[in-house]
Amino acid sequence: MGFFITFEGPDGSGKSTQIALLAEHLAGQGLAVRLTREPGGTPISEQVRALLHDLRNREMSPRAEILLYSAARAQLVSQIIRPHLAAGGLVLSDRYADSTLAYQGFGHGLDLDILRLITAFATDHLRPDLTLLLDLEAQTGLRRRQQGGVEWNRLDAYDLAFHQRVRAGYLELAAAEPERWVVLDATLDRDTLQAAVRRLVAERLEARSQKSEAGSRVSTPLSEL
Ligand code: TYD
Repeated sequence: MGFFITFEGPDGSGKSTQIALLAEHLAGQGLAVRLTREPGGTPISEQVRALLHDLRNREMSPRAEILLYSAARAQLVSQIIRPHLAAGGLVLSDRYADSTLAYQGFGHGLDLDILRLITAFATDHLRPDLTLLLDLEAQTGLRRRQQGGVEWNRLDAYDLAFHQRVRAGYLELAAAEPERWVVLDATLDRDTLQAAVRRLVAERLEARSQKSEAGSRVSTPLSEL
């Protein structure tokens, strides 16, 4: 029984720390956890990441950008995510297709329906079971990144208005699909946030295993017919 969880949020929201802590916790419980990130996660996808983040590539057009993200994603899905889910494992991804909708769609104003189509092709329709949005005001996120000594990438150079559109876009996506998304306040301190993340994931995993047990109970008598 595979389960696919993604973390989304503006730059500087603490996603990477939170997802790493969660992966460690779940692996400690004996679950087969695979932690990955976008763009990246495979040798080919990491090469695409380097292209996307290179400060020398400032002239990259938003359309080229989205195709590169999608190429990296297609490779990650087929090489890592699908095989792990098929083997019954748990995949945690630091960003996934919703980043494309938020950044290229809401941020750059590209047509959301087209982005959804490209994404469906790249992922062969693979969607997360649960998406956690670490929500943070754009200004706070950018300030955190500047202060944190994090590597400054090409995308950080976009202006504040861009990051504000991204944030609003995330909130819109979450509101449109409340059964998949959970919005968390990224200004909470690290441990409080991690406790909330763990509680939530435990609940979802429990619900999933109850559902699959119920499914197998039903399927037994049917298969005997
Ligand atoms: P990264 O250094 O991984 O930062 P973060 O810690 O914020 O995830 O940079 C990823 C950047 O790529 C981030 O600014 C968001 C952007 N991005 C897109 O614009 N579209 C996408 O589809 C993805 C996956 C990421």
